[in-house]
Amino acid sequence: MTLTLDSLNHPTSSSPTQLDLVLNGKKVPLHIGQNILFSDSFGTIIQNLSKNIIIVTDRHLNQIYGKKVKYFLEKSFNLTVQIIEILPGEEQKTRKTKEFIEDEMFKRGMGRDTLLIAFGGGVVLDLASFTASTYLRGIKLILIPTSLLAMVDASIGGKGGVNTPFGKNLIGSFYHPEYVFIDPSFLDTLPKKEFLNGLAEIIKYALITSKDLFDELYEKKSKLDLNELICRSLLIKKEIVEKDERDNGIRSILNFGHTIGHSLELLEDFELSHGEAISLGMIFASFLSLKKKFLEMEDFLKIFSLFKMYNYPLLLSQKVSWKRIGHTLSLDKKAENKNPRFILIEKIGKIAPTPDNKVLHRVEVDELKSSLIWFCNRFVSKKESYARHY
Ligand SMILES: NC(=O)c1ccc[n+]([C@@H]2O[C@H](COP(=O)([O-])OP(=O)(O)OC[C@H]3O[C@@H](n4cnc5c(N)ncnc54)[C@H](O)[C@@H]3O)[C@@H](O)[C@H]2O)c1
Repeated sequence: MTLTLDSLNHPTSSSPTQLDLVLNGKKVPLHIGQNILFSDSFGTIIQNLSKNIIIVTDRHLNQIYGKKVKYFLEKSFNLTVQIIEILPGEEQKTRKTKEFIEDEMFKRGMGRDTLLIAFGGGVVLDLASFTASTYLRGIKLILIPTSLLAMVDASIGGKGGVNTPFGKNLIGSFYHPEYVFIDPSFLDTLPKKEFLNGLAEIIKYALITSKDLFDELYEKKSKLDLNELICRSLLIKKEIVEKDERDNGIRSILNFGHTIGHSLELLEDFELSHGEAISLGMIFASFLSLKKKFLEMEDFLKIFSLFKMYNYPLLLSQKVSWKRIGHTLSLDKKAENKNPRFILIEKIGKIAPTPDNKVLHRVEVDELKSSLIWFCNRFVSKKESYARHY
């Protein structure tokens, strides 16, 4: 079944869903379905792409699923499957780990006919995509996201890359996989904190483009249909990246909440997860939208209560102050002459355009300062030591 908004509203089949992404003239099919990885169609697709398979994954995923996937492909489809395992965690997303993967592939004699399968969260996907794009000048790639964040965000749009001591994702490439396979049943083993990370991106899609999605999240907390949420999110991201593959324009709306979010991650020495940081960032961007009289108070309060409803900790350490946030904001890559610019919303599900019909708003220094003071008074812990609860 091909995925459209209409098919989401009127499901007719429980068979895997397909969504085709067209980027730079290349079609990238996304297959979405429960247990899709252990289906004949998956095995047949792999078999047709290559007989030499390398799976790049992290230790957590390898321990839970590695043997099972390898066994299935080798026994059912007579393929040679090798696994390269990296340590889990954002700190592994480096040039050094990329070099480790490349050297492992050379040692194992992997040639140009190799199919690289990236199996994991966003860290594995970003690293493995970047590696596939440069190994022997490019080999075939398949993405299998296993975290919610990777399913709704990192698996779609072609960005791969690594961090450097100078900042996140500063080295990388645009490279498109042959296929993406999304199996929500992997989420059964995902820790709650990681689930909230992904959910924050789904909330972001709702705030910038879809009141319906927001209402669904608001009203159906206890009976969320994850398959549907993932499909809706993919449709939203697909529409945005197809319009702006290289991230030179409209794609920047995906940074809603990220301007402050990135500052908070930095000031908290990355002890704050990305989802927590951008959830606070979205509250801040909504507050600015309220102050600029784009957003009604009622919508603002609803947004705030959604994050509380899903138990986001919404707590910062005393390392964060309005002055420190202000300093890091001036270094933001979207800043103009050191003045930060923000994506704002005019209501839930709709971006506020600037007077010249663009999306990045300048904010007066005094307005920014008073908003940051409100934000820090509200969210910075009054105690020196505390624990965040999930
Ligand atoms: N390329 C893009 O467009 C894009 C978009 C968004 C984010 N990203 C990148 O994604 C990264 C964050 O991704 P993430 O949040 O998935 O982090 P991650 O890859 O570090 O995964 C988080 C943790 O969850 C574990 N995990 C993943 N799936 C699991 C499962 N099914 N069961 C049990 N454990 C599981 C991992 O082992 C890891 O410990 C960042 O580096 C970010 O820059 C990239």
